[in-house]
Amino acid sequence: ADRIPLMAGNWKMNLNHVEATGVVQKLAWTLSDKRYDKAKAEAAVIVPFTDLRTVQTLVEGDKLPIAYGAQDVSVHASGAYTGEVSADMLAKLKCAYVVVGHSERREYHGESDEIVNDKAKVVLAAGMTPIICVGEKLEIRKEGRQVPFVLDQVQKVLADLTPEQVAKLVIAYEPVWAIGTGEVATPEDAQEVCGAIRRYIAEELQGADAAAGCRIQYGGSVKSSNIVDIMAQADVDGALVGGASLDPEEFAKIVLFYQ
Ligand code: G3H
Repeated sequence: ADRIPLMAGNWKMNLNHVEATGVVQKLAWTLSDKRYDKAKAEAAVIVPFTDLRTVQTLVEGDKLPIAYGAQDVSVHASGAYTGEVSADMLAKLKCAYVVVGHSERREYHGESDEIVNDKAKVVLAAGMTPIICVGEKLEIRKEGRQVPFVLDQVQKVLADLTPEQVAKLVIAYEPVWAIGTGEVATPEDAQEVCGAIRRYIAEELQGADAAAGCRIQYGGSVKSSNIVDIMAQADVDGALVGGASLDPEEFAKIVLFYQ
């Protein structure tokens, strides 16, 4: 299958809208200077809600080859939900992507697989692409149970989705013990779980076409120094990058891993 890798920089709660302008401009400038080829990798920034309008204006105004998206979404369509942001609001800002079920949302905001599944559905219904995060904690890894654990998450977060929907979405495999710790999974660790996810979708869930189409990212301490080996794995179709995406020159190197 022709899956264009998705290199997505998740800024988390960093960079206000003024700082965002500088980072996006620098990223765009570096990519164009290095002859970035959109057919070889897609670059995206996943930014705080307060940065979205600014990033949209920059990207549209200068026709930058950078997709953008949000880090979370409400399961509700509208109404009395103070502090929440709806999928329609994000679609109106032309977000391409919305991350759902990041381990930090699961850990600090009690998001279950069922909530993550609901969020994926509202993102798809609004015409955007969810980046659905899964991944095991250290104790599960120590017991060697990472594959069955993650497959159980995948089955729950993809519940009720059609093969066509699954073919277009993105799954981010992020072992929780590798996030922000500098502890990167080996390329073989990443392939083990990403390959198992794709086989499981093909054999037990939405079928072969869905499995061949969906992009499966690795996330967890990705840097320009380890991205090439990670991307060499057959079932890894990109990366969800945290810390290293805050430096536009470093993130550009990650996007340009193929050079
Ligand atoms: O969403 C990104 C991941 O949580 C990875 O973060 O690259 O800082 O380890 P990190």
